[in-house]
Amino acid sequence: MLDKILDMLKEEDGFISGEQMADVLNVSRNTICKYIAKLRKMGYDISSSTNKGYRLKLDNNKFNKLELSKKIKTKNFVKNIYFFEDLDSTNEYAKTLADKLEDGDIVVCNNQTNGKGRLDRSWHGSKDKNIYMSLILKPNLELMNVWQITLLSGLLICQTIENILGIKAYIKWPNDIIINNKKVCGILTEVSAQIDRLKYIILGIGINVNEDIFDDSIKDKASSLYLEYGKEIDRNEFLALFLQNFEEIYFEYLENRDFKPYLEKYKSICINIGKEARIFSNNKVIDGKILDISDLGHLIVENEDGNNIILSGEVSIRNKNGKYI
Ligand code: BTN
Repeated sequence: MLDKILDMLKEEDGFISGEQMADVLNVSRNTICKYIAKLRKMGYDISSSTNKGYRLKLDNNKFNKLELSKKIKTKNFVKNIYFFEDLDSTNEYAKTLADKLEDGDIVVCNNQTNGKGRLDRSWHGSKDKNIYMSLILKPNLELMNVWQITLLSGLLICQTIENILGIKAYIKWPNDIIINNKKVCGILTEVSAQIDRLKYIILGIGINVNEDIFDDSIKDKASSLYLEYGKEIDRNEFLALFLQNFEEIYFEYLENRDFKPYLEKYKSICINIGKEARIFSNNKVIDGKILDISDLGHLIVENEDGNNIILSGEVSIRNKNGKYI
């Protein structure tokens, strides 16, 4: 009912009377009144006039459960959307609900007050501008495959950016999303498992969508889709398409549990290959040249002794001045 009333308000250029809506929807005017109050509570700006009825002030970037669910076209994914205006961290919230969540459910918010990044860092962003989302996955998989799911999610963020904005996004291994040398999206994967059995994966994705200002301390390293593209982006449309893209590849991947079919595409947009880098792996620091990505999605690095080793961890690339950034 809520979405039908919203659609009627959106379709009308001017005012639409409560009586007209009540007639079309076959409910009382009082019911219409109650739903209008609900929509206002959700943040829709609806004015009313005694003789004319209601008018919605159009705001094309309203990001909420109602708008998002209208755009989502997944087949088996996203049976449940847990949408909040404010949340400390979508990943933390997802953990508290994890047992009852289904494969493909999402936790989303408009304002994240204590966002978590990789390596115990924090993740900041403004209210009402970005996407803060945790996707819960419950696949029947070995723990070692989780890594590849994380890599795939980075790949699919890039694909979605290309689909919607028509601009090319790159990956800094394992899954920082980069446009014009600046990070626009980060992914934090958390896992719960028993010794040999995966319970769930929480894929926490933070995308700087319409953020327009970055602090001086980070503006050389961080950006947003809006700043790189030049126009505001509909977060509902972006997230819905990402989930659709992700669902397709996730089930395809689960059939063979093999990263190889995606490796060439991944490598073609991975900015670390061929670069001198410092890798932080298992509490060790290794300097070397990144030669390639292995079939399993790990780094193949030539270390200072000239040996090729396979590593995973955190990477800093060496810039022209010899500094690791
Ligand atoms: C990184 O360090 O690059 C990863 C950042 C991940 C941020 C996202 S925002 C949604 C989800 N909830 C969190 O607390 N963190 C992730």
